[in-house]
Amino acid sequence: MKLLIDDANVQEIRRLCDLYPIDGVTTNPSILAKTGRDPKEVLTEIRGIIGPGKLLFAQAIPLDAEGMVRDARAIVKLLGEGTVVKVPSIPEGFKAIRMLREEGILSCGTVVYTPLQAYLAAKAGADYVAPYVNRIDNMGFDGVGVVEQIQDILTLHQLDTQVLAASFKNSQQVLTLCAYGIGSATCAPAVIDAFVKNPAIDGAVGDFIRDFAGLAGEGKTMADLLG
Ligand code: G3P
Repeated sequence: MKLLIDDANVQEIRRLCDLYPIDGVTTNPSILAKTGRDPKEVLTEIRGIIGPGKLLFAQAIPLDAEGMVRDARAIVKLLGEGTVVKVPSIPEGFKAIRMLREEGILSCGTVVYTPLQAYLAAKAGADYVAPYVNRIDNMGFDGVGVVEQIQDILTLHQLDTQVLAASFKNSQQVLTLCAYGIGSATCAPAVIDAFVKNPAIDGAVGDFIRDFAGLAGEGKTMADLLG
């Protein structure tokens, strides 16, 4: 499963890319708005941090297909290879996805709340579909279950589209879908950090440090002793 960062805070993106095996970054208009910065400047900086060719998702703003395609061309022109243009999975979006496929621009059908939205985006030629796990949960439905059903539909109908599950709020949601075999997940930095935020892990690591200090002296490392 590819793991992406769902954020546009460049300090956080730099920190997470340094620590974790990250495959890319996803943004949307609300995420960009949270930075309060110029979108061109932020997206360019993110591309610089993750490097050329890595996955970077940015969303088209207009609600008509022609406008979406215009935005898509501008996004790809700025951010280059590895850029995926997100388009809402609405009727004009499905039309735009078909047009983008013809132009060879990678697309993602986003704002997916139902399996049939994902089916239509995939059939139109989207490279990714982005269902919103936690938002679906908050509506009283089973977000993880919806994503599993989407994955089943894509597999059953041999649609060459990858699930990019989004809107996670906890590790359990990610774990279940990771074990189910979805292609990619995008998570906020705090959700990624929480994968390994566990008193048992901290306790075990602390024990090793304490035990070795007792044996070899405070702050001593293998390099100090063996080198
Ligand atoms: O890109 C979609 C995703 O960011 C939505 O997440 O946390 O706003 O529900 P959230």
